[in-house]
Amino acid sequence: VSQNTLTDKTVLITGASSGIGWATALEMAPFRPKLAIAARRADKLAELAQALGPDTMILTCDVSDPAQGRAAIEEVVNRWGRLDFLINNAGIMATTQFHLGPAAEIDQVMRTNYVGAANLIHAALPHMLKQKDGHIVNVASLAGLMGVPYMAAYCASKWALVGLTEALRREYYDSGVTFTAFCPGSVDTPMTEASLRDKTLRMLTRPKTAEQVARKIIHCCLNRTPEYIYGETPGWLAKAIKLVPRFADWATANVVHRVHPLAKSAGARH
Ligand SMILES: NC(=O)c1ccc[n+]([C@@H]2O[C@H](COP(=O)([O-])OP(=O)(O)OC[C@H]3O[C@@H](n4cnc5c(N)ncnc54)[C@H](OP(=O)(O)O)[C@@H]3O)[C@@H](O)[C@H]2O)c1
Repeated sequence: VSQNTLTDKTVLITGASSGIGWATALEMAPFRPKLAIAARRADKLAELAQALGPDTMILTCDVSDPAQGRAAIEEVVNRWGRLDFLINNAGIMATTQFHLGPAAEIDQVMRTNYVGAANLIHAALPHMLKQKDGHIVNVASLAGLMGVPYMAAYCASKWALVGLTEALRREYYDSGVTFTAFCPGSVDTPMTEASLRDKTLRMLTRPKTAEQVARKIIHCCLNRTPEYIYGETPGWLAKAIKLVPRFADWATANVVHRVHPLAKSAGARH
């Protein structure tokens, strides 16, 4: 495997118009990669490109439409001849008590967070395999390793992404193409702005900054780290608790139902 550098490498970051994706592009810039930034909001991407420099490639696309996501990969390869790093970071949250949320959200969350990423990988792999080189970071979540109340649809999409990543790591072992399942806990970004206004939740989850998370993503690119868990719950605990489901349900329900704003609101009681 050739690289432990980002210099002159081609990098596509989805969800770059905000939060973690935005910070990752900015934190990567000093390494001098060729950056392609993707999201739906063209104005935000243009603003970021201003800060990154004239060679930045702007890809306005909706990853929940597989054709648009796949076209983004082809645009990068057509222009730069190769794709070295794919950061699948675009994502949406759904915070609700499951039966009270809109049914359409179940589909939309899965199509953005899982189907979108899976299609970008499907389109990128033939190029990376031909290169015998490439690394893909899938930005999942701690919620992709454990069931988190009031985030069920989101959790499901991130479990899917973690499962996909783990299977692909094994399927393409020794091909030169490597994968990171990247699992952050709470991060202070526009996605969590509303929920982190709740002081108890903020205190309990002690959110990281987008820049801290971005630096860990870069670490994973440089080291081809298979799995990176970075949050309020240690990775070993997120995994160990699965061995004792009855206890895990009791403990989680007791903590979360006491502190979660949705559980405290009358509408969410059951
Ligand atoms: N914040 C956290 O606490 C946290 C924790 C764990 C994991 N994560 C994950 O980290 C990733 C980044 O989240 P963030 O916290 O940085 O949230 P954010 O600030 O809301 O950013 C989300 C990004 O995804 C893009 N996006 C959403 N839907 C898209 C679509 N259909 N097509 C293309 N781009 C789309 C958004 O851009 P447009 O709106 O312009 O399309 C935006 O750039 C997500 O996958 C999230 O699930 C976040």
